[in-house]
Amino acid sequence: MTRFKHHMLKEIFEQPAAVRDTAKAAGDDASGGKFYQLSWKNAGLEKLSRIVIAASGTSRHAGIAGKFMIESLAGVPVDVDYASEFQLSPVVVSPETPTIVITQSGETADTLAALRKAKNSGSKVITISNVAGSSMMKEADFQIHTKAGPELAVPSTKAFTAQLTALFLFALFLAERRGRIGSDAAREIRAELDALPQKLQTTLSLDTQCETLARRYARCTDFIFAARGVHCAVAMDGALKLKEVSYLHAEAFPSGEILHGPLATIDENMTVFALAAVDSGDSDSQARYEKTLSNLKELKGRSSKVIALAVEGDSRVARIVEDIIYVPKAPDLLLPILEIVPLQLFAYHIAVLLGRNVDNPRSLAKAVVTD
Ligand code: AGP
Repeated sequence: MTRFKHHMLKEIFEQPAAVRDTAKAAGDDASGGKFYQLSWKNAGLEKLSRIVIAASGTSRHAGIAGKFMIESLAGVPVDVDYASEFQLSPVVVSPETPTIVITQSGETADTLAALRKAKNSGSKVITISNVAGSSMMKEADFQIHTKAGPELAVPSTKAFTAQLTALFLFALFLAERRGRIGSDAAREIRAELDALPQKLQTTLSLDTQCETLARRYARCTDFIFAARGVHCAVAMDGALKLKEVSYLHAEAFPSGEILHGPLATIDENMTVFALAAVDSGDSDSQARYEKTLSNLKELKGRSSKVIALAVEGDSRVARIVEDIIYVPKAPDLLLPILEIVPLQLFAYHIAVLLGRNVDNPRSLAKAVVTD
């Protein structure tokens, strides 16, 4: 493992390549005349009225970001479900409602059961997986292979950013197929995605700052991650990563929802990690940011332990919070691919400081093949 003490850290640092290789596999055309070299002619993508996503854990978090991507770019409503719930629920899928299952391993029992339920209902199934020959890739009607390379650590890191990349490309592909965006616009959007590996490299240089922050917060036992919009998926995965590797208590909420109950738990014993990154060229993102700033003030009034994540050049967050992590600017839908990196590093360093087995946390397995 050379310079890396753990697979998890090595895999965090492999994310520029995971994103680059996953995007490259879709071809050089904006979203690709042929997406991932496969024919999608019979997928009925032009006619579909809804998409269902079923997945577990981190892969479901990618699905939540995917919902925002598909709804924003392609204008198709998306429902995201826990695979464990979907398989036994009355949720109706049909030939007009494709199901996307997302799975790093391709073998998770709950997600495989969800795939089979969807197929039995006549839904076309698209599997997004990091393992080409896995059960779920074999059983699907369409396959999207993320190119993160083997992920050995139980905490999923590079597979997540590769899933986000694949979902973004799928959303772009769908938007073009359905005539929502023209090829020039698609090319511009694709260029933003292609700029990400370089920005990820810059983001990885936050490692030292994340380690310093981890030292400062390693004695805290309760964490809340807060965000809005597509960034909620990052907050959820930041919380999952922290609890999984450090065994600390961490939860995630949409920032606005904190006022409806969780606020009662916030005092000096609670650390809040707030995502306040904004795409200032996007009016919805800007509106969410303004609300996030007022939430930050409210939270800061209750706990001095608030860490914020903002984009480079932001000066307003620093007037409220001292501990800030800055990530490079990017379009709102692509920011999650950058934002998750410092959250992964923060979780990793806290776990190492606490002497945890980061690559193989207690009670967990890389693929949960029994339910
Ligand atoms: C992520 O860090 C976890 N190890 C876990 O939530 C994982 O994402 C989940 O079990 C789903 O696995 P899959 O992607 O292989 O289906």
